[in-house]
Amino acid sequence: MQAGAEQRGQWSSKIGFIFAAAGSAIGLGNIWRFPYVAGENGGAAFVLVYLACVALICLPYMFAELALGRNTEKNPVGAIRAITPRSLWIAIGILGVLTGVFILSFYAVVAGWTFGYIFKLFLTEPTPFTEFIASPWTVIGLTALFILFTVLVVYGGVSNGIERWSKLLMPLLFILMILLIIRSVTLTGASAGLEFLLKPDFSKITGKTFLAALGQAFFSLSLGMGLMITYGSYLSKKDNVITSALWIASLDTLVAMLAGLMIFPALFALGKAPDAGPALVFIVLPEMFREIPLGNLIGAAFFLLLSIAALTSTISLLEVPVAYLVDEKRWKRKYTVWVVGAFALLLAIPSALSQGAVGWLGNIGGRDFLSLMSFLWGDISLALGGLLLTIYIGWVWGVSNAAEELAKGSTFFKSRPFGLPFTNAQIWAFFIRYVCPVFIFVVLLNVFGVFG
Ligand code: PHE
Repeated sequence: MQAGAEQRGQWSSKIGFIFAAAGSAIGLGNIWRFPYVAGENGGAAFVLVYLACVALICLPYMFAELALGRNTEKNPVGAIRAITPRSLWIAIGILGVLTGVFILSFYAVVAGWTFGYIFKLFLTEPTPFTEFIASPWTVIGLTALFILFTVLVVYGGVSNGIERWSKLLMPLLFILMILLIIRSVTLTGASAGLEFLLKPDFSKITGKTFLAALGQAFFSLSLGMGLMITYGSYLSKKDNVITSALWIASLDTLVAMLAGLMIFPALFALGKAPDAGPALVFIVLPEMFREIPLGNLIGAAFFLLLSIAALTSTISLLEVPVAYLVDEKRWKRKYTVWVVGAFALLLAIPSALSQGAVGWLGNIGGRDFLSLMSFLWGDISLALGGLLLTIYIGWVWGVSNAAEELAKGSTFFKSRPFGLPFTNAQIWAFFIRYVCPVFIFVVLLNVFGVFG
């Protein structure tokens, strides 16, 4: 056995893995990004397309990433190298590693705002959100602090700390969200918000809706950059990958829907527009907190838990490049964590300054730098990575190898559903070889304006 392989951890239990992977999936993507992307793309119509993307594209795709990870027990680059050494396919792994660093760079900026809001809610005269995010030193300081937290956790090793903390804190986040939903839906005028979120207006579905929904689904489920390959590599052969993935996807989707239920009723009750973009959560929620007893305490608790949810995601974003450099380049883990963290901070600075601090960063081809990063790495790169990985797993590694791996620990996978003449594995293979790549490809073409 190699020296590196001995150090490879395993999740302590199936539940431990579900919490860690759900911790990666559940984060700002659900509570900050989902509501504003839904708001910008027509509400309920978007939600419907989103749910279809999760069930039909993302879930089969998640099985595939996990299968590759568990089979090879490697990071994204190492996994592909193990199957097809010295091939161009390794570039997909490299793209995933880079995507991790770039997503971390803008994600940490927003996570920094979240962290700042824990304290801001106690101020008697807080600066408005737009002013807050335009103050250069505050945002850079908060971003640096958040990256530092991430580095410190990954530095010490992820396994025990994260697993244990996630198990305690995720349920707490859940309870707080339920409380806030109750407040939100009982405000006068809340029903318009419920309607916006739950009653689809099909005329609002366009090509753009599909891109936004697919991009959001990949982002929210941490897919397309090899995170699930990396986390899957720590799984034991006895674990049931299928049910684990179902849990992760369901929990993640549930939290996104809860976030919508929390935001939109309050938003409409307060008479605000749903398409406020990235500022949505930071403007609407504090206003709601002002209207409830002990609102600043509840609000602070909420932003604290949101920061923690963001932290379990930033940890996973940092873990992918770190795992790559340690496994493949034989760097020392502790040194690697600092180097990648510092690099991410450097990349984060233009995003941090793009929200009003430095004028020209606020408009680069019609988007501010942070939104541009989110579009390039959070939407395009994840979808592109997802496309290449489905092709790789479906056609190069091969669906039969992947299905063998998935059947370990799951008898269900090889069985025939409802007495049909084909097995679940065969249905899955059809999705991975045809449905997923074709759908993702069409959505990507649409980004480049192929359909006008
Ligand atoms: N899924 C995380 C969220 O929704 C973000 C993320 C994307 C984390 C990709 C890891 C990999 O907040």
